[in-house]
Amino acid sequence: MKQIPLPALLLDEAAFESNCKSIAAKANGKTIRIATKSIRSAKVLQRILESDSVFKGLMCFSPREAVFLIEKGFDDLLLGYPCWDEEAIGEIAKHNKNGRRIICMVDSEEHIDFLERIGQQVNGKLNICIDVDMSTKFGSLHFGVRRSPLTNEIDVLQVARKIKNCEHLELIGLMGYEAQIAGVGEQMPSQQLKNKVVAYMKRKSIQEIAQRRKRMVDALKQEGFILTLVNGGGTGSMDTTSKEEVVTEITVGSGIYSPLLFDYYSSFQYKPALFFALPIVRIPSPHIYTCLGGGYISSGPAGKDKVPQPVYPKGGRLLPLEGAGEVQTPVYFDEAQLQIGDPIIFRAAKAGEICERFQEIVCISNGQIIERYETYRGEGGCFL
Ligand SMILES: Cc1ncc(COP(=O)(O)O)c(C=O)c1O
Repeated sequence: MKQIPLPALLLDEAAFESNCKSIAAKANGKTIRIATKSIRSAKVLQRILESDSVFKGLMCFSPREAVFLIEKGFDDLLLGYPCWDEEAIGEIAKHNKNGRRIICMVDSEEHIDFLERIGQQVNGKLNICIDVDMSTKFGSLHFGVRRSPLTNEIDVLQVARKIKNCEHLELIGLMGYEAQIAGVGEQMPSQQLKNKVVAYMKRKSIQEIAQRRKRMVDALKQEGFILTLVNGGGTGSMDTTSKEEVVTEITVGSGIYSPLLFDYYSSFQYKPALFFALPIVRIPSPHIYTCLGGGYISSGPAGKDKVPQPVYPKGGRLLPLEGAGEVQTPVYFDEAQLQIGDPIIFRAAKAGEICERFQEIVCISNGQIIERYETYRGEGGCFL
């Protein structure tokens, strides 16, 4: 560690490899598309793709990111979200025309009109995937995310027919992300009652969305649409998404780095692989060691679970009145003999976002640096 200037972002090689293997082993005959938002380093994406042939293609979060990755030689890129960037989509349409495969996401007629107009302007081609709603209602409670308005096969067919009438668009896939299964742990600490309710709702929702997804796929097929991909799930839903016959591929990202929020699922336990190390720069009083940096709060509803946590040396905890600060993070230890300059190692709550704070990921094996991987930020890529 002494050779690494701090702050630093660290990848534990053994844990990373183990997670790639464990995730590949759960594919159950599907392929796995890597969620780039949860990795945010082209070199790490390449390593995952090379680790097992079950990893095929990437799910990107921005059209400019897709262009950046295509220009680096990646292919088969599914934009996981609708986008509204004429210039980048124009580039995408041209790349597709030249034989590359980038797929845009739509859930409305407005998206389709917009993409067709760009396709026409550049005389290009745009592959299209329809995003469908996979949330479940429990009375007035919405269990899932607010994304696609397409909730049934009638809605989906209407959008598909419109795509069919567009000269520059081709429908090739359907995606439904069951966030309430994939992104919600049911073993959160100090939430026993809530965990039980979440586990119950997850069980019910899993059955319902499987039926809904099948109805949608069947309806499209009956009308003659050929879907080369049916994408579902995420790290937290591999076990159930992979059992759905109509699904061809699962998107997975977070499990590879296995951040704090992915410690709390009953169906898997990956190894913490991504850490950040901050230098102690002052010791304001006995037991308290203050580091430089640290306020890397993860997205989602703001709460304690989005705050990074010190993990090494063991026994450290953040102070309730300061938490992880913008440039200073004090850590309390009952017992520790640390000095200014020593590192404290933390884990982030979510996977990829932390990469936006660092230029490179230092890959460590047996206490030695074996590689350095630039993050998107390290390559000047700032996509979201
Ligand atoms: C569309 C979509 N698919 C899949 C995922 C799963 O990604 P991960 O495995 O990183 O949780 C996400 C995460 O938000 C997503 O938005």
